[in-house]
Amino acid sequence: MSDGLEGVIAARTVLSDVDGARGRLVIRGYPVEDLSGRTRYEDAAHLLFDGFFEDAPSDLAPALGAARVRAFAEVAALDEGLARRDPVEAMRALLARLPDGDDLQTALLLIAAPAVFTPAVLRVAAGQSAIAPDPSLSHAADILRMTRAGPASDAEAAALDAYLVTVCDHGLNASTFAARVVASTRAGLTSAVLAGLSALKGPLHGGAPGPVIEMLDAIGAPANARPWLEKALARGDRLMGFGHRIYRVRDPRADALKTAVRKLASASSALPGRLAFAEAVEQAALEILREHKPDRPLDTNVEFYTALLLEALGLPPSSFTCVFAMGRVSGWIAHAREQLAGGRLIRPQSVYVGPEPRIAA
Ligand code: ACO
Repeated sequence: MSDGLEGVIAARTVLSDVDGARGRLVIRGYPVEDLSGRTRYEDAAHLLFDGFFEDAPSDLAPALGAARVRAFAEVAALDEGLARRDPVEAMRALLARLPDGDDLQTALLLIAAPAVFTPAVLRVAAGQSAIAPDPSLSHAADILRMTRAGPASDAEAAALDAYLVTVCDHGLNASTFAARVVASTRAGLTSAVLAGLSALKGPLHGGAPGPVIEMLDAIGAPANARPWLEKALARGDRLMGFGHRIYRVRDPRADALKTAVRKLASASSALPGRLAFAEAVEQAALEILREHKPDRPLDTNVEFYTALLLEALGLPPSSFTCVFAMGRVSGWIAHAREQLAGGRLIRPQSVYVGPEPRIAA
């Protein structure tokens, strides 16, 4: 038996390869650092969908814009009570209303859903009305416009694109595995995406970047980093944004996102200072983790610079998991289609360690 299924190979995939020893992520043949910052999210989704939807147009952008408009019709079901829940729970409730299906139109609606529902949830929770999508904009630019009720700069849209592309797929992570398990039962893409989203929500997976901001805010200044982090570890806390099941070296997505933050910082007055502070905290954390766990290489993961990037874009920490879902959803869908195309029902076994058979009273 493998605790946490560590080391177990449960699928063959053409979608992405995570090399934990070398710190390398390849998405359909491209190193993540070559896609991030150079590719629109629409094109990364197209790359993932290649071969899984025969009717996919060569440019997904117009169809995805139309899907955002279709998704917005569901926002009518969003009342203030629902919007005040944790944003990922509100978004999950809206997603659950979408019909199941396995076709391209369902897939596009599912990509559009987190992008449209998240800004709507944030605005309705703040007592404002939701803003309808503009299908003529890029996916990233429209997400920022719907969130703020104003246009995003090209640099901001490019930074969000870099983030969404960086996280679009990552081997058989917990949420993708959950999506593949559900897809293997032939339940449909909406059910698979809901399973993925539910797994993503946890703080050991996609729920980490919000706590990274809490950690940075609680530390406050570089001089406080070491004592604060030491105390946290002494309490038995985990440092959010560090450690990974597969990577034994630095997560390559951390550097892809750091590059995106640096680009954004060149057009901002406040961000360079925040970035320098975060780098000081990261350095202190890496030193302390080496002392704390000398036998377990613990390095920076994707969530550390995710937190900084999304914060710089004005997105609230409560929405970070939803924004992660906006990127990862295309990976969940591609994996679900891949599972449907060739995979059997996923049905592992367990070792029974309960009482011996006995006679019921
Ligand atoms: N801080 C302190 N100690 C840690 C950390 C951390 N961030 N990560 C792992 N450890 C320690 C554990 O306490 C454990 O110690 P023990 O053996 O004395 O109990 C040891 O390292 C191994 O930990 P596991 O939980 O077995 O390692 P696993 O591979 O399952 O964990 C995980 C990976 C869940 C990501 C872990 O590193 C963690 O909790 N990190 C913090 C949360 C986080 O940043 N999550 C985002 C991950 S990236 C993503 O999912 C998109």
